[in-house]
Amino acid sequence: MEKIREAAAMITEKCLIQPRIGLILGSGLGGLASEVQDAVTIPYRQIPHFPDSTVIGHEGQLVIGTLSEQPVVVMQGRFHLYEGHSMETVTFPIRVLKELGVEILFITNAAGGINKKFQPGDLMVIKDHVNMMGRNPLVGPNDEQLGPRFPDMSQAYDPELRKLAEQVAAKQGTELQTGVYVGVLGPSYETPAEIRMFGQLGCDAVGMSTVPEVIVARHAGIRVLGVSCISNMAAGILPQPLSHEEVMETGERVKEKFARLIRGILQEMSGFNQGRCS
Ligand code: HPA
Repeated sequence: MEKIREAAAMITEKCLIQPRIGLILGSGLGGLASEVQDAVTIPYRQIPHFPDSTVIGHEGQLVIGTLSEQPVVVMQGRFHLYEGHSMETVTFPIRVLKELGVEILFITNAAGGINKKFQPGDLMVIKDHVNMMGRNPLVGPNDEQLGPRFPDMSQAYDPELRKLAEQVAAKQGTELQTGVYVGVLGPSYETPAEIRMFGQLGCDAVGMSTVPEVIVARHAGIRVLGVSCISNMAAGILPQPLSHEEVMETGERVKEKFARLIRGILQEMSGFNQGRCS
């Protein structure tokens, strides 16, 4: 709690607005952060108790300001378990966002498509997740100040926010898939056998992030919206091997469509019943 307060106090001191929406930008989407108006940018390494992020394609900084008329705090770059970070480290920023006053968390990521109806470049609103990371960020003593011991996960991805995303996509003429995201530890990609198993279990897309952040956000009573960019088809769905380059290339190709959807959704969030954290 003390670490969370120290980090939040340092950020609050620097920023001019109180952010209501947290936005996590996945690989390739970082450019959207440059559209934030009256932006205050704080590199992660300057924030007390924040770790430094290392993965290629992820700059590590917070950008606080106004985007599509909303007071936002943007995480440009996130922490992954496969980098060797602990669950606590990966989710620490979510605790800090809550302390800053964030009520809605908008998470984006890149994911491999398991559902054969998907194509690389598709966008998918996450309706639920399966945690295959073998760990949970809430393991250990529970601090009741942060949230309940046994948080409900039956509506982890807020149905109203999902509907909003679908309405905005329809208005923009952007096709938006819906599906279940399975979170894995990585960093090796999955085997074809694993992907067949995930498909049989009802999973539509696979990735190496998001699940820890969503669990902690729900613990903290933050409403969550998640959108994946299907950057490649998962292992064994197509004959060719997977590569990080393909993931980055697809991100580059669809980033404008993705950014437009994010801007449009944010715009519509102004009408959202403020303060209603369930
Ligand atoms: N598997 C896991 N994580 C990913 C993938 C994938 O195929 N693509 C992008 N992130």
